[in-house]
Amino acid sequence: MPTQAEVDALKAKYAAAQQEHVFTFYDSLSPEEQAVLYNQLSKLDVDRVNRIYKKAVSGLESSTTNLSISPLPDDCFDSVLDAAESKQKEWESIGLKSISENKVAVILMAGGQGTRLGSSAPKGCYDIGLPSHKSLFQLQAERILRLQKIAKDSTGTQGEVIIPWYVMTSGPTRAATEGFFQSNGYFGLKQENVIIFEQGTLPAFTNEGKIFLETKSKLAVAPDGNGGIYAALRYENVLTDLASRGILYVHAYCVDNCLVRVADPVFIGYSISKNADCSAKVVRKAYPEEPVGVIALRNGKFNVVEYSEFDPTLAALTKANGQLEYGAANIANHFYTVDFLKSVERFEGELEYHIARKKIKHVDLTTGELQSPIKPNGMKMELFVFDVFPFTERMAVLEVDRKDEFSPLKNAPGTGIDDPDTSKRDIMNQHLRFVEKVGGKVVAGDGETQDSLTLEISPLVSYAGEGLEKLKGKTVRTPAVIDTVSDIEKVIIS
Ligand code: UD1
Repeated sequence: MPTQAEVDALKAKYAAAQQEHVFTFYDSLSPEEQAVLYNQLSKLDVDRVNRIYKKAVSGLESSTTNLSISPLPDDCFDSVLDAAESKQKEWESIGLKSISENKVAVILMAGGQGTRLGSSAPKGCYDIGLPSHKSLFQLQAERILRLQKIAKDSTGTQGEVIIPWYVMTSGPTRAATEGFFQSNGYFGLKQENVIIFEQGTLPAFTNEGKIFLETKSKLAVAPDGNGGIYAALRYENVLTDLASRGILYVHAYCVDNCLVRVADPVFIGYSISKNADCSAKVVRKAYPEEPVGVIALRNGKFNVVEYSEFDPTLAALTKANGQLEYGAANIANHFYTVDFLKSVERFEGELEYHIARKKIKHVDLTTGELQSPIKPNGMKMELFVFDVFPFTERMAVLEVDRKDEFSPLKNAPGTGIDDPDTSKRDIMNQHLRFVEKVGGKVVAGDGETQDSLTLEISPLVSYAGEGLEKLKGKTVRTPAVIDTVSDIEKVIIS
């Protein structure tokens, strides 16, 4: 229980910040409720959130007048679609070497609530309907396990190779995520190498900049966006843990991309060879009007430019090779040096949060009644993970093949776009290409057709198509599931 002097001091602080209305009902609350509210208010840095609000609102006003877009410089952009095979091998071996030296970690952004998918569980728990019924979390965990082995074997490393996996959750996803990992035995990873942490929250604001009370004893708060990763790395002691493990490089990615190459050695090696402090994977924008953000220069600085910000002529501009000038579609898949992640604290005050106008449930300050508005009545503020791009010193951008590396799960089943069926299809089509690439053949078995073949290869067997050489010159009949190396022989029919 706070003392009266402590309560008075806190009230004075909120009054100075012009947010003293959050104490409106304080005196009418039970001692327990008072303690809850006091606790929430004393943990909040009210001056910081006021600053965030002011900067976001002033950014909104200047964003339309302050827009000069220019293409990415050639020396910051490469593509695995164009690069020589030997160059890609070189990047890969640099990446594998770093992984084998235990210098690489991964950070998964899994704090989103996946409202569009229509499931209340965290997105990573989702079963996209593969024959194995593996969740997105399991697919990612098994890619880590396989890559640890590839890095160890390919470099002849004696000791254990560990790629620590930091999983960023939020208030709404933390408990369920922890429970899922525990009940699945961390999918074969060591528990000590799976570090679950939580991003922060920010209060919701009225259109006049006042903090909403959700109830008489609780502020209305929401996760601070996937850009909350940077602050959370610091106050959840992830930066300290990275340093104590000797990690130099980090791969960060979104939970919903079922094809994600976790800790991709090609991308890591590429970024190291470019001496980048931060780099981004992109896919080729399919057509000028495609509704994706692209990485380009805004006022001379790296940034993501939303499709709504382009005029159609600019969006359709092409380079000499016929490709779109603004064609680097952002997939929120990044490399960082740990030094860069540490440096974010220095420019944090300059980062501009984005405003989302929302319907915010709150208590009416005059009547004390709960209100559920039917149209947006206020704003939530979010930082995006790419908002640090303008502050990078040496940024690099690597274009990868969309069909091999990007298929996000965003929408509910049956939508036909970025839904569980497209995720499943894109994984199985990739596995078909893996077999064909080593010179194998896949034929449709009973109940299957050649354009919908059921073929699943465990990430424990193959990370990116390797490990399947035994299928050269062989035929596989579907449905087929290769769950372990010994299953390879079993699925061959001739
Ligand atoms: C995001 C990208 C977009 C990219 C697209 C590709 C951002 C802001 N936008 O859009 O540029 O083209 O993915 O799929 O990154 N998350 C958190 N905490 C939050 C909110 C989200 O960890 O508070 C995580 C989600 O769990 C998810 C990722 O961030 O892994 C992306 O979130 P989502 O809201 O799905 O972003 P999109 O709008 O789809």
